[in-house]
Amino acid sequence: MSILRPMRATDLFEFNNINLDLFTETYSNSFYLSYLAKWPDLCATQTTPTGRLMGYVIGKSEGQGTDHHGHLTALTVAPEFRRLALATSFMSNLEFASSSSTHHGYFLDLFVRCNNLVAIDMYEKLGYTVFRRVVGYYQGIGGGPDGEDAFDMRKCLPRDVERKSIRPNGKNIRVKPSDVWF
Ligand SMILES: CC(C)(COP(=O)(O)OP(=O)(O)OC[C@H]1O[C@@H](n2cnc3c(N)ncnc32)[C@H](O)[C@@H]1OP(=O)(O)O)[C@@H](O)C(=O)NCCC(=O)NCCS
Repeated sequence: MSILRPMRATDLFEFNNINLDLFTETYSNSFYLSYLAKWPDLCATQTTPTGRLMGYVIGKSEGQGTDHHGHLTALTVAPEFRRLALATSFMSNLEFASSSSTHHGYFLDLFVRCNNLVAIDMYEKLGYTVFRRVVGYYQGIGGGPDGEDAFDMRKCLPRDVERKSIRPNGKNIRVKPSDVWF
């Protein structure tokens, strides 16, 4: 049986099988460590019984007032463990934690490459909708632009009773990366 557990710093030495993927961003060690230190309940991994990492999720909590929300920073599953509902389960847990009394967010949001159709379909199936399109959001290796746009997708959490954090026709609303901050 596989094990769902909080992510640990030593997992960074073990996740190459997951991160060698075009749609998976790899960040600096300090980036991951800051997440583990600040939002340990929003970072999780699933392992095989022998300890091999199958996938992970990292998230954070940010924003003020009714913009206070959970943010999915990375979600990825190793190719050999896909279509087993791991990502669905990671998202469900992140939504639960982002709604908890600790974080109590109004919504959960994420950025996804506009050509990542598998992920977009999955998020839509899970109830996420496009809030806006961020033109040229993604930077390439070494910090240079690769120029690809991101969809900023959102799902209301129970605290947003009036569902004010989402809107229709978000795909047609284009913003610059500098417009996206909390
Ligand atoms: C996107 C990703 C996280 C999905 O992980 P997963 O564990 O395979 O997803 P799930 O098994 O929970 O799939 C949920 C649903 O998404 C859809 N889906 C997932 N992968 C799919 C595929 N390859 N083709 C078609 N639909 C797919 C299906 O509707 C699926 O439900 P079903 O299996 O009952 O039909 C995984 O493919 C991945 O790691 N991709 C690379 C990294 C990435 O793109 N991350 C997202 C960046 S924002």
